[in-house]
Amino acid sequence: MNQILVTGGAGYIGSHTCVVLAEAGYGVTILDNLCNSRAEVLARLQMLCPTKLEFIKGDIRDPVLLEQVFKARQYQAVIHFAGLKAVGESTVQPLAYYENNVCGTLALLKAMQHHGPKSIVFSSSATVYGDPHAVPIKEDFPTSATNPYGRTKLMIEEILADLHRADTGWSIARLRYFNPVGAHESGLIGEDPLGVPNNLMPYVAQVAAQRRPYLNVWGNDYDTPDGTGIRDYIHVLDLAKGHLSALRYLEQHSELITLNLGTGRGYSVLEMVAEFERACGLKIPCRMGPRRKGDIAQCFADPTRSWELLNWRATRGLAQMCKDAWHWQCSEKLRNE
Ligand code: NAD
Ligand code: UD1
Repeated sequence: MNQILVTGGAGYIGSHTCVVLAEAGYGVTILDNLCNSRAEVLARLQMLCPTKLEFIKGDIRDPVLLEQVFKARQYQAVIHFAGLKAVGESTVQPLAYYENNVCGTLALLKAMQHHGPKSIVFSSSATVYGDPHAVPIKEDFPTSATNPYGRTKLMIEEILADLHRADTGWSIARLRYFNPVGAHESGLIGEDPLGVPNNLMPYVAQVAAQRRPYLNVWGNDYDTPDGTGIRDYIHVLDLAKGHLSALRYLEQHSELITLNLGTGRGYSVLEMVAEFERACGLKIPCRMGPRRKGDIAQCFADPTRSWELLNWRATRGLAQMCKDAWHWQCSEKLRNE
């Protein structure tokens, strides 16, 4: 069985991707230091996987551990999710972000160069487009960053491009995610942010669950039909399947590919709230607030290249995303009672 090393596989997107990989017949080893995920997730994740998952608790910045990991088993490829991802936190603790994301990726790539597979799928982000001059966003649009988190993604993208220029034996996918939301339909895995959620969907779900009194809508004076920000929300399982498609592509091509993973459709904050209200049958109280610093009016993908190259496209709509997010929220509540 072909074995894949999944760094950050206990986290939100990684855990859903592990399910998709295991269902597709791959062996999966997770390497995660659990700095933003819980060990309990692993047992629930295992329930969804037809084969036994391997779990290594450890840090991608640990070169000794990495050497052991790659010497102990032959991996076909690495899917690299491990990283810190909170934009606000990155502006307060930039060094922690450069250390974890950039130095961590360097340590991983060095170990792969010496002992491991030369095939990697990397989690990049639509944040690398900065404030795009137009929508939908194509992969060849200019890139920029407005915060340390975004800069770590750009730096890693550049490191990967240099690596491929130096040695075309590498197979590399740089996947730029738009806004992953929703959860596995079982309610066993999902997004579990610590503290106050920064992102819209988990915040809305917590308001619906009466854990928070109302949603702050950050700005209703944007140049959009209802004045609120527009984003490309993508079901996390569609995103996970995009990784499987990229992995299969890299099995056949030792190339550097850069792809948007989005649906190609944008929804406003108020449209998202209305759809969530339909999914949960409850009213979501909202309060209009000022714009959030660094936010942009509109961000949605042109996913054509992913379709042409990988034959991949998102299939789940906003109703399914909200339904699964709500089911996950209710399941978590029951488990915590
Ligand atoms: P997450 O925090 O749920 O998962 C990341 C996992 O990596 C966690 O389980 C964490 O414990 C682990 N980790 C972090 N640093 C590590 C280290 N040094 N060594 C080992 N494990 C480590 O985040 P997610 O939402 O699943 O995101 C996964 C990746 O996708 C991240 O790189 C993130 O930047 C990127 N991304 C996420 C989004 C999003 O909206 N969720 C959007 C674009 C890109
Ligand atoms: C987030 C990340 C960004 C990443 C992108 C795609 C932050 C600050 N930015 O931004 O780096 O590239 O996801 O994964 O985390 N909103 C509210 N009230 C809230 C929360 C959000 O009105 O409580 C609005 C925002 O103003 C925005 C929309 O909802 O218009 C979506 O916000 P969010 O979920 O944070 O995603 P991004 O802004 O796209």
